[in-house]
Amino acid sequence: MRIIRTVRSMKRWSTDSQLRGDKIGFIPTMGALHAGHQSLLQRARRTCDRVVASLFVNPLQFGPAEDLTQYPRKLKQDIALCRQEGVDLLFIPSSQEIYPDDFQTIVMVAELSQRWEGQERPTHFQGVGTIVTKLLNLVRPHRAFFGQKDYQQALLVQRLVKDLSLPVKIVMCPTIRENDGLALSSRNTYLSREQREQATVLYSALKAGKAAIKKGMRSAGQICQIMKRLITNKHIMTIDYLAVCHPLTLEPLTSINGQVILLGALRLGNIRLIDNLLVHAPQDCS
Ligand code: PAF
Repeated sequence: MRIIRTVRSMKRWSTDSQLRGDKIGFIPTMGALHAGHQSLLQRARRTCDRVVASLFVNPLQFGPAEDLTQYPRKLKQDIALCRQEGVDLLFIPSSQEIYPDDFQTIVMVAELSQRWEGQERPTHFQGVGTIVTKLLNLVRPHRAFFGQKDYQQALLVQRLVKDLSLPVKIVMCPTIRENDGLALSSRNTYLSREQREQATVLYSALKAGKAAIKKGMRSAGQICQIMKRLITNKHIMTIDYLAVCHPLTLEPLTSINGQVILLGALRLGNIRLIDNLLVHAPQDCS
């Protein structure tokens, strides 16, 4: 596995790969890799000739009061895991390499970046949009793989790729969960034992919403009530949002017909958990 740290070498590598006609699969990450990332690497390995991953904790997507300095960094383990998963090239740039002092450009997806996570984290998605665009330009992959765990992020990347006519296919891959349902996330390491036990309630709430839809409930308001009711006083947490939305625009719905996405975000102390479930509600034929 080759490791590249500069923009210049990265560009040279992708130009050479393009000339060879290799189909490149790309997995951008912020490191602290887990089984969720592993499943993305494996999907790329199965479907592409060359697999590129990046490790870069992107300062632009963290708000001033967020966890940029505490964000888990596990460089040695991450390199070993990439090697084990057959990654051909690992791109590990420095901040200076990505954002030199005269850097000025921001990539923002107007509407999608304002909703849900964007309400809680106002500059987050412009940071994501900017780094993902830059990385796609450097790596020039045919396919890039994102987890459904960060559904809004994956949707936003699909939107920017379409709007800017970038020649890459964005593949959204299923969320990987612990046995008790908690969606894997690099930030799960922040949870205390008590918080870890409580954290499963988010997935339980989404599953309860899904079950109600499958039983025929079509009022989004009632579905939200069902999800909220599960988060009782015994849980030391606040609900940032629990919502039933259109799967492409993320607009909140009032009634349900066809495919919907259930979105949830909870706060345990200053740790935020997000999760989602896509649900198909059969069309009402009556
Ligand atoms: O999902 C992440 O790890 C990050 O948001 C990403 C896509 C690597 C951009 O920094």
